[in-house]
Amino acid sequence: MSGNILAIDQGTTSSRAIVFDEHQKIAGLGKMEFTQHFPRDGWVEHVPEEIWATALWSAKTAIKKAGVKASEIAAIGITNQRETTIVWDRQTGKAIYNAIVWQDRRTTKLCEKLKKAGHEKLVSKKTGLLLDPYFTATKLAWILDNVPGARKRAEKGELAFGTVDSYLIWRLTGGKSHATDITNACRTLLLNIKTGEWDDELLKLFRIPRAMLPEVKDNADDFGMTDPEIFGVALPIYGAAGDQQAATIGQACFNPGMLKSTYGTGCFALLNTGTDMVRSKNRLLTTVAYRLNGETTYALEGAIFIAGASVQWMRDMLKIIEKSSDAGVLAAKADPTQNVYLVPAFVGLGAPWWDSAARGSLTGLTRNTGPAELARAALESVSYQTRDLIDAMRKDWKGAHDTVLRVDGGMVASDFTMQFLADMLNTPVDRPTILETTALGAAWLAGWKAGVWPDQKGFAERWALDRQFTPRMDEDERTRKLKGWRDAVRRTLSSS
Ligand code: G3P
Repeated sequence: MSGNILAIDQGTTSSRAIVFDEHQKIAGLGKMEFTQHFPRDGWVEHVPEEIWATALWSAKTAIKKAGVKASEIAAIGITNQRETTIVWDRQTGKAIYNAIVWQDRRTTKLCEKLKKAGHEKLVSKKTGLLLDPYFTATKLAWILDNVPGARKRAEKGELAFGTVDSYLIWRLTGGKSHATDITNACRTLLLNIKTGEWDDELLKLFRIPRAMLPEVKDNADDFGMTDPEIFGVALPIYGAAGDQQAATIGQACFNPGMLKSTYGTGCFALLNTGTDMVRSKNRLLTTVAYRLNGETTYALEGAIFIAGASVQWMRDMLKIIEKSSDAGVLAAKADPTQNVYLVPAFVGLGAPWWDSAARGSLTGLTRNTGPAELARAALESVSYQTRDLIDAMRKDWKGAHDTVLRVDGGMVASDFTMQFLADMLNTPVDRPTILETTALGAAWLAGWKAGVWPDQKGFAERWALDRQFTPRMDEDERTRKLKGWRDAVRRTLSSS
């Protein structure tokens, strides 16, 4: 059997797919951005048909570019933007409402209400998460309450719910498989992360009918065969994982204490804590890193909602750059004596602040501030936010000290950003040769399950360093800059 694996990586702003060859090298890639809908302040939606069409186009393009036949693909792995919520009709396969994206804040009031009623403790204990609109359950409840007839139909089993992995699996298998994996399921607020099962008490609290839920599987598992109409041949789907967990796998962060951070639309740092379910005292999340052969590995996660999205904002709204890769070049021209801070709370602030009502701010402007200073502030904000996360991790768990950070995602191509990150963290930052670690992680799950790729140890040995960034900034400068950032955040919080 060939060792080619197709990974479909369905992200927040683009769908991409990669064919990796038997040596885990990229053989072909397809990528397409799709429309972001912002119907109201704080609302973010995607059209499910567009998610499907762009994912499919990317998959077919990747196969074509790799120069292989679909029959030469051994298996498919899926990875995806997490928490984004889709409900569809089991008969027609049509979604009954747009996908409500993880960044969407429309359920802020419901979350506040549940918090005030004292439910956060129980929810946190069972799920490792917090009562924040970021997660799936309240978005799902919103669809059931706002689409006419939806709740009744869901109770009768006529509607199916899924995060994006589940929706793609359904579409790829022609409606034969309604499944999800543990890492996506654990972000819904409906799964007990200790038992790995849907939890009746949580389903009752969020008023979600069990009949609409997918089956929860391991990350390397049998998710069904694709409908032969799609690729001309039926292919097995053998891997699925939420994108941040897939990146953790792709970065081979398999040992407790290993840490990765991915800079996509948002930024997500995951620290492997092994079999320990570390409970955060600093508002980080306890989450499943992966479950292989029924054995669960946990992680502490820090989630930042806006990272690369601020570069997109400069490109699409401010129009101060033409393409994303220009941001680093522009930032490098900034006047280093200015103290401009962008707190990109465009959709509220995530960890460790969890302030869904906060909105972005720009401080320290002078008459000399121009596009270059703004670009610099946007790129620097990513490093400041990562520093906040890592500080919280270190307070929570002794295993988080003395760790090296492995980075990936679109933004890490910028040397300027990575050097500043190392300076702010005061710790080395490792950039691997393969930056498509999210897709690689999904591919490994499928390749390993198919028996055509190496096991965990063999895969970890192939992880290769492109460049290590080491801290260069002196302590006084770092302290001064961090103080300025914290002042800016304080002024941005909704309580200020
Ligand atoms: O939790 C949201 C996350 O999975 C989105 O990832 O890469 O699309 O920013 P990304």
